[in-house]
Amino acid sequence: KVEYYSEPHRPQFHFTPEEKWMNDPNGLVYNDGIFHLFYQYYPEDIVWGPMHWGHATSEDLIHWNHKPIALFPDEHGYIFSGSAVLDEQNTSGLGTEDNPPLVAIFTYHNSDAEKDGRNDYQTQGIAYSLDNGDTWTKYEGNPVIGNDGIKDFRDPKVFWHDKTKQWKMLLVAGDHLQIWSSSNLKEWKKTSEFGKEQGAHGGVWECPDMFELQIEGTDETKWVLLISINPGAPNGGSGTQYFIGNFDGNTFTSDQKSNRWIDWGTDNYAGVTYNNAPKDERIFIGWMSNWNYANQTPTEKWRSAMTLPRNLALQKIGDNLELISYPIENFEKVVTKGSKKEVVIEPAHKEVVPFKGLQQSDMRFTTSSRDFQLVFKNQNEEKLIMGLDSKVGEFLIDRSRSGKIDFQEDFTNIMTMPADNLPDGEVEFRIVTDRSSVEIFINKGQYSMTAQVFPNTDYDEMVITNTSDALMKLNNFGIAEVKG
Ligand code: FRU
Repeated sequence: KVEYYSEPHRPQFHFTPEEKWMNDPNGLVYNDGIFHLFYQYYPEDIVWGPMHWGHATSEDLIHWNHKPIALFPDEHGYIFSGSAVLDEQNTSGLGTEDNPPLVAIFTYHNSDAEKDGRNDYQTQGIAYSLDNGDTWTKYEGNPVIGNDGIKDFRDPKVFWHDKTKQWKMLLVAGDHLQIWSSSNLKEWKKTSEFGKEQGAHGGVWECPDMFELQIEGTDETKWVLLISINPGAPNGGSGTQYFIGNFDGNTFTSDQKSNRWIDWGTDNYAGVTYNNAPKDERIFIGWMSNWNYANQTPTEKWRSAMTLPRNLALQKIGDNLELISYPIENFEKVVTKGSKKEVVIEPAHKEVVPFKGLQQSDMRFTTSSRDFQLVFKNQNEEKLIMGLDSKVGEFLIDRSRSGKIDFQEDFTNIMTMPADNLPDGEVEFRIVTDRSSVEIFINKGQYSMTAQVFPNTDYDEMVITNTSDALMKLNNFGIAEVKG
């Protein structure tokens, strides 16, 4: 294990760049046994700057190899977010049939044009690799999609649509989504728009993604659209909403009325899913930060981490169809097998659980109680508070006294999520902590919440309080250590 893993707050099992600034995950594609993770990267500083695509690879999405920078800014601009595909039939002609290319599709951001007050500063470009992502060549005909005056025109997500035998591109254009089609990844035609009148619009739309999922336990499928927005998330700043609907090959439609969020925490943004993942799994990775304070978080050599990779699924729960997100199976490989016990707590009483040496942990239990509080504490009187309250139907995280907090005023806001559609009876609660994050999954990911925390010393105690007037029973309670 390399030395930098001992730095204060350095995540041990979440992806971080070795050094310098990182934001969105880009170009998530699986090819020939390798998961690629590209990411928005500024190699000169720990704040946002002229964007490159950094690169890492993995065979299991848990252990990562750092690779050289894949894409550098050029005369068309910085390299903003985008996606990557395997062009298996060499439709682009950028490879050969024997050696089909990986093609990256990204936004060019021309900062000079933006400074000049023009609106057409973002265009779309492509690049290809003939050695499974090791080296990249930009297409000489770039940009492949120009701009006739749309501000905030970016973040292309391309996927192969089997029914129409075409490539589809999702692009955001300020306050809505555009869908484009192509047979060769070079010539694109706009086919439809979605969303001007639907969903949350507190900020610009960013980083779209769309995929078909089977509703668990049925033969029916639905399409899910992810749209990140900043600002305008339910707990402030950046967040990712989803729409469930239908896609006919050209147009996405949804009759969804309410705004829905893939994660209610403040620190899961710009998340997208893998193209071509094995076993048709829909694997999601988000950037574990928030534009409210991303440039100010208290780390020195690097900034930001990715969320744990999560599996997405559609489940009918009560009357609702819900998008479920839960850590991928492979994560279990680094979770130490621990013992499980039953914990019973009288009304208004608490149970103190030692948490020493467990800053990297995976805590799980099931309970039918809907009123409790969990507090992680350290010797400095720093506390991370969480709680579920059935009267308001909410789960909350309060990190206002959790450690380093004063780098930006919004960081201390209490975050809440309505956990009001939980089924009756036993439900799993799972909390994964790394050195500067917590990820909460309720009912196997029906509700999730991700938050960064920066305790000055490790939390070494966990206190569970029964805030109801009935006996509280936690079944299969266990805190397992997670190996880095
Ligand atoms: C989202 C985003 C994208 C953009 C990128 C720039 O966090 O704003 O819309 O492509 O970051 O780094």
